[in-house]
Amino acid sequence: MSVPEDGAQAWAAAWELLLPAATAPARARGRTLQSALREAVRSARLAPGTRLPSSRELAADLGVSRGLVTEAYEQLTAEGYLRADRGSGTWVGGAARAPAPRARDLAPGALHARVDFLPGSPDLSLFPRSAWAAAQRAVLAELPHHGLGYPDPRGLPRLRTALAELLTRRRGVVADPERVIVCSGVAQAISLLGQVLYARGERTLGAEDPGSPEHAQQLATAQIATVRLPLDEEGLALEPLRALREVRTVISTPSHQFPSGIAYSARRRAELLDWARAVDGLVVEDDYDGDFRYDRAPVGALQGLDPERVAYTGSVSKSLAPGLRLGWLLVPDALAEDIVAHKRVMDLGNPVLDQELLAHFIEGGGYDRQLRRCQRAYRERRDILVSALAEHFPGTEVTGIAAGLHIIARIPARYGPQDAFLARAAEAGVALRPLSGYTSALPDDGAIRLVIGYAQLAPARIADGVRLLARATKAGP
Ligand SMILES: Cc1ncc(COP(=O)(O)O)c(C=O)c1O
Repeated sequence: MSVPEDGAQAWAAAWELLLPAATAPARARGRTLQSALREAVRSARLAPGTRLPSSRELAADLGVSRGLVTEAYEQLTAEGYLRADRGSGTWVGGAARAPAPRARDLAPGALHARVDFLPGSPDLSLFPRSAWAAAQRAVLAELPHHGLGYPDPRGLPRLRTALAELLTRRRGVVADPERVIVCSGVAQAISLLGQVLYARGERTLGAEDPGSPEHAQQLATAQIATVRLPLDEEGLALEPLRALREVRTVISTPSHQFPSGIAYSARRRAELLDWARAVDGLVVEDDYDGDFRYDRAPVGALQGLDPERVAYTGSVSKSLAPGLRLGWLLVPDALAEDIVAHKRVMDLGNPVLDQELLAHFIEGGGYDRQLRRCQRAYRERRDILVSALAEHFPGTEVTGIAAGLHIIARIPARYGPQDAFLARAAEAGVALRPLSGYTSALPDDGAIRLVIGYAQLAPARIADGVRLLARATKAGP
């Protein structure tokens, strides 16, 4: 959706209320839109001072006529909900409502809703519902009957072509459509790799420490064990890996290590590939949030350096929504046939309508637009989180902030001990995950180490959440 940047966050929160206008019967559409806008202003989802999209943009996003939106804006302006400033657009006025109390003015304990700082989720309210609905209509209208038969287990050629172009352009991978296998997220990609590697005699894989506990669980379903390997400041440490004679495959997150947030150095990337060549092995590259880098261009995927030594996987779980269960796997030629055979046995391929939809969405530029929109929103949220922590927990070190949807915070020991800190946070309704959930190798210095997810929270909620946390843990400058 095209939304004025200054109102993007507020707009995301109000968008859900407006959706019924897109699906209401034609004769009720205008009325539905007007009451939804009124409700958004009354409930403060659209706060005074928020700039609304132009009538042309909102009409396009909702799939309704422009006249209907103009009429709604005029009506609400007449009622005092909105204010039209010649030349600068339509704004939320505020005359017709009593100002809602701001969270920071509330009494302690009045913030009843839980503040969820757990890592792993994008902002699901940014899902491009109307563009998706339009893609759905187009796909159903154009799909021939035979398109509803069993798909190619590798994925529809149309989607593999769209993904190959997207991943080559955005992530620097070596991808032609023949190399792309569509799957149900990174989770299925890892399970498939585990099965094929097991059938080839591998029993133990190397994994990063700290790292994703899910990787180990997914590999365990293929009866593959994982050995945790430490990181240093450049990425996965190679000496411990070289010492493990039985390990020929490592699973890694080189562009944005999960959860520490570091990017592997160029030297470490080259060394890791040298190791893989020397042992005739494989590096599995989980590019779980490779698109979200805030301060400079994303680090290109490792796979681009040696596509015959890297199995590359990613998904739409962070860019669109994890509930879509759609992802991709690009494997070296030597593995491709076996992976596809396992995919066929596992589920006969991903649902065709979902694949057509994603292809349509990528081809029309919707995917790039979505990434730009999320990038803007998440960068702002990250900045708010970092400054709120600096204000309320002085001395806190934050790392892993250059990319992704979470940061690592090291809060000084004087706010601890960690268990008591977490217990007080939980009592106050602030959900937090300690870094110790991802590793057992942490310095014993009494500091509180947290993996804080911020992408799913509106900016005001982030600031209020940190304030609430400070109050609950009796911290203060
Ligand atoms: C390290 C890592 N990789 C991958 C994913 C995404 O998995 P999927 O694509 O199966 O949703 C996640 C999800 O949070 C993750 O933490």
